[in-house]
Amino acid sequence: MAIKSNKMPTSSSDASSPSAATGKIWDIPLRLFHWLLMFAVIGAVISAKTANWFWHEKMGLMVLGLIGFRIIWGLIGTDHARFSRFPLSLNRVIQYIRSRLAGDRTYTPGHAPTGAWATIILLAVLGAMAGFGTMANNDILFEGPLAAWVGAYTNTATYWHRALERVLFAVLIAHLAAMLTYRVWLKINLVPAMVTGGKDKKAKPFSRRHQMIGVALLLIMVVAAQTLGLLGERYYL
Ligand code: HEM
Ligand code: HEM
Repeated sequence: MAIKSNKMPTSSSDASSPSAATGKIWDIPLRLFHWLLMFAVIGAVISAKTANWFWHEKMGLMVLGLIGFRIIWGLIGTDHARFSRFPLSLNRVIQYIRSRLAGDRTYTPGHAPTGAWATIILLAVLGAMAGFGTMANNDILFEGPLAAWVGAYTNTATYWHRALERVLFAVLIAHLAAMLTYRVWLKINLVPAMVTGGKDKKAKPFSRRHQMIGVALLLIMVVAAQTLGLLGERYYL
């Protein structure tokens, strides 16, 4: 169900000049999602490498909850957050790359075709890793909260959880390289918009209610994922 935005301006400067751009590109829940995801993924990797399984479980489940939120937000979120707005067709991707190579340096708010694909891949890899993690085991005493329920499949899940580590690192390096390429080659800095929300001249301001629903949903998904960690006996060795 689409939640309509109201016409409340989001800042005082917007209110003082109604003809100026008032809409933002990224809503608050999406920005919160992004930076919490970065925190949780880094936390999950560091805790795994230092064999701190207590924190690995917390961080990994946080990733799981965040991905769950993002999937729902892709369906009911604000304009540019919606999967239906992602320009994923092969034609759009080819056209986009061609136009960049031909010297196009303009910035269109929202995900570019390549960025939309990168987003889908990042969400899929992280979702799969966190999902397999809940069923994985470390050959000693620590195991994901669902491992006891899936029998011998826990070893397959462990295999894939481990195998995806390299894929994750490759995708993350590509993500950062893309930011750098935009900055250096195209002279477009994408990062501030992920902090402030950026500006979309054609968009209406997001409604406060819609954004609050998003933040609440994000918190609910993260807490719900953490409750998985309460299942069964837990040994962090
Ligand atoms: C996307 C989030 C996650 C990331 C990035 C991640 C990352 C990793 C990495 C890199 C390792 C390998 C450590 C090593 O070098 O041995 C590992 C191992 C492990 N993780 Fe995760 N993990 C995530 C989510 C989870 C979750 C949600 C759980 C369960 C609550 C979990 C359970 C485990 C277990 C049981 C192992 C040990 C498997 C082994 O011996 O290799 N992980 N994780
Ligand atoms: C573990 C680290 C990171 C992960 C897992 C991650 C993940 C993601 C994901 C999933 C998206 C898509 C957002 C959406 O859901 O629509 C995204 C977009 C974005 N990320 Fe990251 N990110 C990480 C680190 C960073 C860092 C360090 C920066 C800044 C230097 C950054 C800057 C951005 C920007 C600017 C976008 C929006 C790109 C666009 O305009 O299309 N990310 N990131």
